[in-house]
Amino acid sequence: MSLGAHTFSFPIWVEFGNGKSDRVGELIDSKGWKTALIITDQGIRKAGILDIIETSIEGENITYDIYDNVKPNPTESMVSDALSVLESGDHDVVVAVGGGSVIDTAKCATLLKTNDLPLSEYEVNTPADVTAGTIESQTHPLITIPTTAGTGSEVDYWAVITAEERQFKMAIGQPPLSPGGPYLGADISLVDPELTASLPPRQTAATGFDAFSHALENHVAAGAPELVKPYTHHVMGLVSTYLSDAYTTGNMQSREQLLFGSHMAGFCENYAGFGAIHSLAEVTGGMYPEIPHGEAIAVFTPPVMRYNLETHPARYAEVAEAVGVTTSGLSDLEAARRGVEAVETLIDSVDLPTSLEELGVDSGDLERIASKSLETIEIHDNPREADAADLLEITRNAY
Ligand SMILES: [Fe+2]
Repeated sequence: MSLGAHTFSFPIWVEFGNGKSDRVGELIDSKGWKTALIITDQGIRKAGILDIIETSIEGENITYDIYDNVKPNPTESMVSDALSVLESGDHDVVVAVGGGSVIDTAKCATLLKTNDLPLSEYEVNTPADVTAGTIESQTHPLITIPTTAGTGSEVDYWAVITAEERQFKMAIGQPPLSPGGPYLGADISLVDPELTASLPPRQTAATGFDAFSHALENHVAAGAPELVKPYTHHVMGLVSTYLSDAYTTGNMQSREQLLFGSHMAGFCENYAGFGAIHSLAEVTGGMYPEIPHGEAIAVFTPPVMRYNLETHPARYAEVAEAVGVTTSGLSDLEAARRGVEAVETLIDSVDLPTSLEELGVDSGDLERIASKSLETIEIHDNPREADAADLLEITRNAY
């Protein structure tokens, strides 16, 4: 079998390990930056996480401002607010400290600081949009410091921002399209498991399962390069092994494994696409902003797996193996089906929701969720073709 082809570029300086966030001041100084804007949310401040970052920055005599008004499922207006603060002073670098919402808001503010079009012009809905080169200038310098083990956004080229009028979560992003070319994302990322210590159980479960779904969708995606598969296989195993313990006990060794896994999955997101799980979950989240992303993901994962495995049983047999199912002696189809059952057990073990009804979705919205999913970038990479009728059937199965 041919190994196909891929292009590999990774321009982000990454430091992973306990205590690494303490290096932020030193790294800012090493780049010759004198002033910073920290973008975060109020929960991070209350948890005391920002104190570590401020102490490190102050230790190098870097002056800084703080914008702490990011909320979950960030909107275009939140990006505009963050951009106004960024432009209101002299800020050599942005430091994003938080989960995916904070990091995505910061990414988009650094994009609009140096590129002139409105945010929606950088939206990607088709594979052609991804390679169109709409981001023409290098984005403003950015350091990402994740505080959840979930999104992988600290090292990927994507952001998700809700367009409120359309009730639609836009995918914004661009990988480097030529050596040294502009991209959406960080210059430096500090990935410190200790910062996830205070994450409450419900968010630990939702963000951790989101990381699982990234590895799962990247592993089975149409056109996924062989490059990512050892990583995605490993991440599925890590999450299925450690998520329940991190959720139940908050054990730091389990949290470290989860952050390592979510971070590796974020890396893979740059080279492989997603699929119908993210497509349907993002559309649902755009219509119901109060639903946490990882909870919508948990609800759609089993029905999408069942739909896809019928045409791609071998890929889903690999998923089963990754999550610990004994597959010897089973056909690919049998193994794949056992894999879905194992994933359902994982979801149950961390008390994540299992139906759209439980999430408060109105049954009258199912057709709209299915049809709007065809407008997302993610649906193009689903391994099995899916039209509006197929997506409606999946959505009904998720209800
Ligand atoms: Fe996700």
